[in-house]
Amino acid sequence: MACVPSPTDFDVSPTVGFVPESEPLQCLPEYFSPWEEIGRNLPRLVKDPDVLRQRINQLPLLDHNKLSLEDEWKRAHLVLACVSHAYVWCKGDAGVAKIIPKCLAIPWVAAAKHLGIPPVITHCSYMLYNWKCIDPSQPLSMNNMDLAIMITGSSTEKGFVKIPILIELEFGRGLHAVIDGQKSVKNSDRVGLMKALKSIKTTIIKLTAIFLQTNDVVDPDEFYQNLRPYLSGWNGNPTLPDGLLYEGVSKTPLKYSGGSAAQSSVFQVLDAALGVIHADSSSVGNFLERMRYYMPPKHRAFIEAVGQGPSIRHFALTSGNIQLLEEYNQCVENLKDFRSAHLQIVARYVVIPGNREKEKKQFGMAMHGTGGSDIMPFLKQARNETGGALICNNNEKKKKVNSGTYTTG
Ligand code: HEM
Repeated sequence: MACVPSPTDFDVSPTVGFVPESEPLQCLPEYFSPWEEIGRNLPRLVKDPDVLRQRINQLPLLDHNKLSLEDEWKRAHLVLACVSHAYVWCKGDAGVAKIIPKCLAIPWVAAAKHLGIPPVITHCSYMLYNWKCIDPSQPLSMNNMDLAIMITGSSTEKGFVKIPILIELEFGRGLHAVIDGQKSVKNSDRVGLMKALKSIKTTIIKLTAIFLQTNDVVDPDEFYQNLRPYLSGWNGNPTLPDGLLYEGVSKTPLKYSGGSAAQSSVFQVLDAALGVIHADSSSVGNFLERMRYYMPPKHRAFIEAVGQGPSIRHFALTSGNIQLLEEYNQCVENLKDFRSAHLQIVARYVVIPGNREKEKKQFGMAMHGTGGSDIMPFLKQARNETGGALICNNNEKKKKVNSGTYTTG
């Protein structure tokens, strides 16, 4: 029988999941103050792109080997990611920078290598390592959290970063149920699995409720016009078709997708735990697999370990227990509901403002995700593939066929 993974073996906290257990470092040691100085002032500097680029071009090439603590490497990646994305995109598509100078490129690539993630803005650097607690005596919450660095400084940026952090934290609180569920399968414990599935379902419902708060804290136009462009990457992006040249690192441009919550490990763990399959051959499967390389390596390994763990779906399917099967199906339905809610948010925050841009004949990345996907068909497929995990309850089916109401989708 397959092993049940232990989260702590994968740098995953049993209480806060993929979020670091202690507050991320807010400032690098004095030696790195030239980076911090620009990072702190990004919201002001992005309004004056010539000055921003000039200030960055004058930065000294600092010795990244002076970074020592793990938290310093994380902070370095976050600051260099925000500064580099500001450098590349501060003049819009028309004035894009095709090269980042070596004072950014060399230490950023080194920090990325150290952390096992690419040198581009990622969900883990821009979200997971980008918070501070206002009142440490109280739990982190929407009002008890600030960002450790901002690009535009808008309330939209704050909301956009806080929502995924709150989702990750809620997932962390419920993660034990995934592990308990797999342990119950291993022990053929139906009662234990039932309890675990109820808890997983409650967690997914809470994740969706937090997610929908996006509507209250992120302004669609501010997001689309002023924040989203900075999160774009240089893979499949028509503005940088060849990628971005990292001076002093590589003689040819490198291609990386931009920041996207598709790089969050949360939903990939839920898929793995519930046996939701996005086949490798499908565009979603390929994309999500690729996004794993934007996650910290141990988190990526945790998703794989959950996927190889005792199969909750198989147990529910073969148990012959209708309640277990229904409870399993409700988890899948709720995960599907999350993806339906996500489609609505994407319509409001990307498709509608993107259509307005189209009318102005500015195509660029309008209908592509910052991660480079062709948005709506892709996300619908992800939602539909989730539904594919639902287990058909034969008794229900017979009942409905007899009463003439059963239709297959
Ligand atoms: C304004 C808010 C948001 C927008 C506009 C948005 C947009 C997108 C887009 C365009 C994609 C397609 C992949 C890409 O190219 O990047 C995507 C994927 C994804 N997003 Fe979001 N997103 C938002 C918030 C969130 C949040 C808060 C979460 C959860 C933490 C999330 C979770 C996901 C996941 C898991 C995927 C991968 C597809 C899937 O598994 O269904 N998104 N998002």
